[in-house]
Amino acid sequence: MLTNKIITQRDLKHIWHPCSQMKDHEKIPLIPIKRAKDAYLYDFDGNVYLDAISSWWVNLFGHSNPYINEKIREQLETLEHVIFAGFTHESGVKLAERLVALTPKKLQKVFFADNGSSAIEIALKMSFQYYKNQNETRDIFISLENSYHGETMGALAVGDVSLYKEIYGEILIKTVQAKSPALVSEEEALYSMETLFKKYEGKISAVVIEPLVQCAGGMAMYDASYITKLRSLCDRYGVFMIADEIAVGFGRTGSMFACESANVTPDFLCLSKGITGGYLPLSCVLMSDEIYNAFYCDYSEGKSFLDSHSYTGNALACAAANATLDIFENENILEKNRIKIAFIEKRLEKFKKLENVKEVRQRGMIAAIELRGYNTDRRVGLDIYRYALQNGVLLRPLGNVIYFMPPYIINEKEISKMIDVAYEGINELITKG
Ligand SMILES: Cc1ncc(COP(=O)(O)O)c(C=O)c1O
Repeated sequence: MLTNKIITQRDLKHIWHPCSQMKDHEKIPLIPIKRAKDAYLYDFDGNVYLDAISSWWVNLFGHSNPYINEKIREQLETLEHVIFAGFTHESGVKLAERLVALTPKKLQKVFFADNGSSAIEIALKMSFQYYKNQNETRDIFISLENSYHGETMGALAVGDVSLYKEIYGEILIKTVQAKSPALVSEEEALYSMETLFKKYEGKISAVVIEPLVQCAGGMAMYDASYITKLRSLCDRYGVFMIADEIAVGFGRTGSMFACESANVTPDFLCLSKGITGGYLPLSCVLMSDEIYNAFYCDYSEGKSFLDSHSYTGNALACAAANATLDIFENENILEKNRIKIAFIEKRLEKFKKLENVKEVRQRGMIAAIELRGYNTDRRVGLDIYRYALQNGVLLRPLGNVIYFMPPYIINEKEISKMIDVAYEGINELITKG
C-alpha cells in the first residue's frame, strides 16, 4: 500500500519543487496528497488538511467540484486541445464573450495564455509594441514597491520582492518602482508616481499594479481611491495602466474584479488563478479595440503581435472557466461571500489583543495577521506552517504575515477552525519565545 513515506522517497529522488529550499525536506516532510474534496486535502496516511489558501489562491469552489468535473468531462469527450493560432473552439469563444461582458465596457478583446506570469509578459510586450508600431520607443515600465507579478524575467523585473528578484537584478529589463500606497500614505504614493511620470515623460509604456492587495508582498492592502487617482494620472500623462488581477480577480476582494471598487477601466486587465476554479492553467489579458487596432494591419507592415504559448486557450481549461462563471452566476456567490467576509472579520478580532500581532487586515476573502518582533532568520512563518499542518490546516505564511485565502465554499465551522488554529499557533510562539 502506498504511504506518505513511499511517495515522498520516490518524489525526492527526481522532483525539484517550486519556491522551496529542497534541503528543508530533510526536516520538514513533503505531504503527498492522495485526493481532495471540497476544502479538504487527504494524504496517503489518512491525514486531512483544510486548504485555507485555496492551493496557492486558485481554488474557488472546492476540490473535485461535481459541476466543474462534469463540464470538464463533457469537454473531454469532444475536444481536449487544439492549436489556437488559425483555429478556435466554442469554449474559448464563449469564455471570451463572457469575460468581455463581465469586465468594463471598453475592454473588448481577449488574448489567452496559460499562466499568470505569461499574462504579465503579454501586457508588458503589448504596451511596448503599441508605441513601437507608431515608431515610438517607450522603454520604461513603472510598478509599485513591494509588488509581485510572477517569476518570468519580465514579470520579475516589474516585481519588487527582493527574495525572488534580487539575485537576477543585473539581467532584468530596467524598471522603476513608485512608492506603494500599502506602505506609505496615498498622497505620498501618488506624489512618488507623478514624480516618475514627469521624470520619464514620453518614455513610459505602462504602469502595472496589483489593485487593492499586494498579495505576495505580505497581503499589503490599500484603498480603491488610490487606483481612481492613479487612473487620472495615467490619463493626464498618457501612460497605460495594467491591472494585475491574477490573484485578486474573480471575487477575492468582494467584487468580481478589484478595479470595480475604484470604478476604473484599466488599459490591460490580466487574469488567471481563479479563472478555472483552480482546475487547469489558463490566463488572459483583456484590452480595448483601440489597442487591438494598433496591431491590425497587413502582415507585411510588421506590426503583428507574435507572442504564443503552446497551450494557449486550452479547451479543457476554457470549459473549467465557463463552469466557474456558471457557478458565480447561478449561485449568487458574491452575495453569499458577503456573509462569510463579515464572519471572518468578527473572528479576526481576537488577534488584535495578542502582544506579537502588529496588524490585522482584511479585504473581502483575504485576511492577514502581521506579526512583530521576529527577524527573518527566525522563520516564524515556518513554525506556524508546521503547527497548522499538525492541527489539520494548510496555511503558508509569507514571512511574518499569516494569511487566509480560503475557497468560497468554506463554511463558518471551517472558518473558525482555520482561524483558531492560526491563533493557537501564534499564541504558542509567545509561550515558546
Ligand atoms: C498578482 C500576481 N501576479 C502574477 C502572478 C504569477 O502567476 P503564475 O504563478 O500563474 O505565473 C501571481 C502569482 O502568485 C500573482 O499573485
